[in-house]
Amino acid sequence: MKFTDHVVLVAGGTTGINFAVAKAFAVEGAKVCVLSRSQTNVDTALEELTRVSASVMGRAADVRDTIQVSEAVAQVVSAWGDIDILVSGAAGNFVSPLSAMSSNGFKTVVDIDLLGSFNVMGAVYPHLKKPGASIVNISAPQSQLPTPAQAHVCAAKAGIDQLTRTAAMEWGPEGIRVNAISPGPIDDTEGMKRLGPTEESRKKWEQSVPLRRYGSKDEIADAAKWLCSPQASYISGVILPVDGGWSLGGSSAMTTALS
Ligand code: NAP
Ligand code: COA
Repeated sequence: MKFTDHVVLVAGGTTGINFAVAKAFAVEGAKVCVLSRSQTNVDTALEELTRVSASVMGRAADVRDTIQVSEAVAQVVSAWGDIDILVSGAAGNFVSPLSAMSSNGFKTVVDIDLLGSFNVMGAVYPHLKKPGASIVNISAPQSQLPTPAQAHVCAAKAGIDQLTRTAAMEWGPEGIRVNAISPGPIDDTEGMKRLGPTEESRKKWEQSVPLRRYGSKDEIADAAKWLCSPQASYISGVILPVDGGWSLGGSSAMTTALS
């Protein structure tokens, strides 16, 4: 198996897309730790992960809290040693026009997505395997496309893209690759429950994707595994769209889908 004994930490890894990524690495033989705020989510995730691997752990931690993040990282390192792969995907979203968004609403999403990614990357960095480690941040098309009712996410994910590129430059000389995945609309996720809650809005989303369908969580997991594999050993600083071509449609696609 490709990731046998690799140590993988997935921030925000207890549900949805990130959980699918965590599980995919566990299936490939990796030692996997997932963290998120809710102990219930952690327990549920561990129940499923232990069905595919004996080397899994989970921890309730908020990526906005540097102490909680450091404690989680310390637990991983003391159990398994240096970290081979970090996937950073903790995120929050809600649909709100700027005029109805409070300062704290905007800040909350920026803090979870962008500051949270910074916190996790910073805590993990001293313990990354050098050379050879790989980081995958989970971005979103909003990072490139100005999107009504998504100003907080646009700002946060644009920051994640630049954080990704900057870390790729700073940490590349130590043999650390840093990339991001930008998923399109993904089926059966909290994100799309919020952005496309009705059958009608789902149809609009599907029509806006060149492949005319939602992606699956496994398709994002496959991309994450590939980015962390030796097959992608010369790829760093890339924001990889995994979106059925959706981002080619430009901002009009998102505006249509959300209107
Ligand atoms: P999700 O299931 O809600 O995933 C978000 C995860 O982050 C949850 O496990 C949540 O668990 C955790 N989380 C939230 N706030 C946190 C915090 N402060 N500290 C630690 N963990 C936190 O949603 P998803 O739709 O699968 O999205 C996963 C990722 O893909 C996100 O980065 C999202 O922006 C990105 N994305 C999704 C789509 C899509 O179609 N769904 C499209 C583009 C990009 P707790 O509640 O337990 O904390
Ligand atoms: N519209 C406008 N503002 C909203 C809102 C909405 N739908 N939902 C929350 N907010 C505002 C709140 O009013 C609050 O601002 P205020 O103090 O000025 O009133 C601020 O956002 C923080 O809300 P709170 O509920 O305290 O934040 P939290 O840290 O408990 O939760 C969220 C963060 C709001 C992002 C929550 O939706 C969440 O936990 N999401 C995680 C799952 C998710 O979003 N998955 C999809 C990922 S793509």
